[in-house]
Amino acid sequence: MLDAVTRAPYVGAATHIRSSDVMTADFVLDTSVVRSFVSDVRTAIAAAPSPEAACEAITPRFAELLEDSDWLPLDYRRPAPQSGMGGGIGQWLLYRADDGSLSLFSLVVPPGAQTPIHDHLAWGLVGLYRGTQDEEIYATVGGALELVERRSLAAGDFYALIPPNDDIHRVRTTSSETSVSIHLLTNDTGCVWRHTYEPVSGEVRPFRSGYVNVACDNGPDDPHAH
Ligand SMILES: [Fe+2]
Repeated sequence: MLDAVTRAPYVGAATHIRSSDVMTADFVLDTSVVRSFVSDVRTAIAAAPSPEAACEAITPRFAELLEDSDWLPLDYRRPAPQSGMGGGIGQWLLYRADDGSLSLFSLVVPPGAQTPIHDHLAWGLVGLYRGTQDEEIYATVGGALELVERRSLAAGDFYALIPPNDDIHRVRTTSSETSVSIHLLTNDTGCVWRHTYEPVSGEVRPFRSGYVNVACDNGPDDPHAH
């Protein structure tokens, strides 16, 4: 884990969301920083013999992204009142591969808001960019949901998520400022059907969070399409 760092305020915010990006483009946030990052990540993944090795290889570049105060425009740090996550939580797509094998997105959680308990169904890295969060990690044990770890995250902290380890969690913003986390995961996380878990009963429900800025196709994995 990296220590929190002091950051300069973001300047020069400009929208990079173009209507032509919706549904088709790989790079929703089309900047040299994101293109360079994704290129390095894809090269590292292609060369890595395992998800663990890939996460280790990507770690330095991911840490750089979390330390860079300038690359993420304010548009991608905003809450979203009508989001699929509830609580005003905004999930903003920045990049996704055409084949759905990789996505980069920001998750914006207002002060005091928390996600449902959910899974991701893909490995990758998740790190905090702004604010602080408490995270609760769960595991299913004999069909029941069990809290296995609590941890606090500050800006610059990140972790590898390699299912089934650490795949089920919920996060809550503990800072007075909105928290922003950066997710690099090896699926199209906002558009695949995942699961939420009811904390008391352990009931599992189909869940698709969506993205605030990009629509999802109703693919064949849509449980509501059958
Ligand atoms: Fe998550």
